[in-house]
Amino acid sequence: MNPFKFGTIVEDEYFTDRVNELAQIKQMLDSENHLVLISPRRFGKSSLVARALQQLGRPSITIDLMKVLNVEDFASQILRQVFRVYKFEKVKHLLKHFRVVPTLSYNPVTEGMDVSFVPSVGKPSAMLEDSLELLEKVSSAKNRLIVVFDEFQEVNSIDKTLARQLRAIMQRQKGLNYVFMGSQESMMEEIFEKKKSPFFHFGERMNLKKIPYEDFYAYIECRLPKMPAAQKATITEEILKFTNVHPYYTLQLASAVYNAIEYGKVKEDPVAFAIKKQVEEHSLDYERLWANMNRTDRKVMLALAHRENPMADRSVPASTLFSSIKRLLKQGYVIKTGSYELEDPFFGEWILGA
Ligand SMILES: Nc1ncnc2c1ncn2[C@@H]1O[C@H](COP(=O)(O)OP(=O)(O)O)[C@@H](O)[C@H]1O
Ligand SMILES: [Mg+2]
Repeated sequence: MNPFKFGTIVEDEYFTDRVNELAQIKQMLDSENHLVLISPRRFGKSSLVARALQQLGRPSITIDLMKVLNVEDFASQILRQVFRVYKFEKVKHLLKHFRVVPTLSYNPVTEGMDVSFVPSVGKPSAMLEDSLELLEKVSSAKNRLIVVFDEFQEVNSIDKTLARQLRAIMQRQKGLNYVFMGSQESMMEEIFEKKKSPFFHFGERMNLKKIPYEDFYAYIECRLPKMPAAQKATITEEILKFTNVHPYYTLQLASAVYNAIEYGKVKEDPVAFAIKKQVEEHSLDYERLWANMNRTDRKVMLALAHRENPMADRSVPASTLFSSIKRLLKQGYVIKTGSYELEDPFFGEWILGA
């Protein structure tokens, strides 16, 4: 079995480090506070929160705002999650107070309740308000519910007034914790740090960093197939150097390296081999992304692929470079971790080879 896992929430022996963050999150959720957790995509937010929830052993629901279509759908998804956690018999009486009565049906495949509000019947804001209030009612003082909103920066694109509506209800609620996760730092800052924003300082903020080098090093080294110690050290260093210690891409590359050694019987350098293979597999996507970038974006991407400062380019006005970087940050191709870097090191490799 390949001991490196990526792309999903990692649990148990696959999960490493984050000891301080975990303690801090558990402490926050033990109080009446709400948590705002920010990091670029694939740094480990979901895995970290899942572990905290598991250790706290309290009921929780999670909604990914990326998958919410509109306010009505948001209300439906909240109800659906509630019925996943609480026995229908125990909470059904609470639905009587709903101004728009949801349609419920038992789904024998998922063994859960399918819930929807009949569209066009009522006011979406009333549906949302009643659903959010249900959360407070099902939560108990002894076993407080934790409500997780993932990709919360999407809130403004679902509906312009949604943030205001949510905040109006949430600020009077007691006996619940909310967790707001987001992978767009600047948008999350707009929401939680701007005085005029309805969510100004609504929760305690935590910026999740990469996993520390030393810890990640030990994690990879001891999971590699059997080989001389010096070789293990070289391979581990090469992996972390290439991925710049990015949690997801490090696990992805480590996994590919493991396969190359164990199953591929690769004779050449397994890290170089695995990188080449990954780049080839994604080259069609990279071509398409590259084709859609303008010349300044490409210059910025190229500089970052060389691990150089893109602002150093004197042939382009600084303001043009800066707005390109901002755009690439927003699109997720570039991340900021002290300095700017490419989100996907394999894309960087493709750019250098193209
Ligand atoms: N603490 C961790 N230990 C080991 N791997 C991790 C850890 N955190 C993240 N990863 C790696 O990164 C990937 C993405 O993690 P995820 O929790 O989905 O991030 P996010 O929610 O920030 O997008 C995981 O599939 C795993 O490979
Ligand atoms: Mg996630």
